[in-house]
Amino acid sequence: MGKVIKAFIFDLDGVITDTAELHYRAWQKMADDEGYFFNREVNERLRGVSRRASLEIILDGKVIPEEKMLALMEKKNNDYKTLLETITSDDILPGMYDLLIELRARGIKIALASASRNAVPILRKLGIYDMFDAIGDGNSVVRAKPEPDVFVHAAGQLRIAVEDSLVVEDAEAGVKGAVDCGMMSIGIGPDERVGAADIVYPEPGDINLESVIDYYKA
Ligand code: G6P
Ligand code: MG
Repeated sequence: MGKVIKAFIFDLDGVITDTAELHYRAWQKMADDEGYFFNREVNERLRGVSRRASLEIILDGKVIPEEKMLALMEKKNNDYKTLLETITSDDILPGMYDLLIELRARGIKIALASASRNAVPILRKLGIYDMFDAIGDGNSVVRAKPEPDVFVHAAGQLRIAVEDSLVVEDAEAGVKGAVDCGMMSIGIGPDERVGAADIVYPEPGDINLESVIDYYKA
């Protein structure tokens, strides 16, 4: 392929840290309080999906007034933010800190592309905010994943072409966005979910930078 990776663009939840469990607990509380059906299986479908789209999945076709939608999203987010207070650098997923260090040492740029509006405070709590050269989050773009906008935004901030950028994603929607805009891609998780990525690893800690570089160089 003869490709050189100039930037790594990381998803946050499920790649750098596992905030999915905290999202789950906050949504479960909202659903219990409101009498909506929700469980861990439904929660799987919220992976990488925006706050509003998550609520729509939980509502499962039920129509409620816009003011109530906003109130429920705010309540969930407040509970989620309380849960986020417990996060420390111990919550960086295994291997990811070392990968960031390795990327920096090689002069490969690092960016975030997350659907979350809480991404910056989370990176700060994890103690790795300063390692990122650019941030794309839920506040940066209008169209959420699977649209590629947040990835294109991140690459644009880095001033690196999309075809020289590689996305690391654990969500089907995220992999689709990356592939659709012509970026290189690593999927984290089972093939059924992220099999559309160029390279698939079961866990983020399995990423082997040397072999990824070789894969695209060959
Ligand atoms: C990430 C998570 C989703 C979450 C979304 C929005 O993509 O995987 O589960 O719904 O961010 O997060 P926010 O913090 O803005 O509610
Ligand atoms: Mg994710």
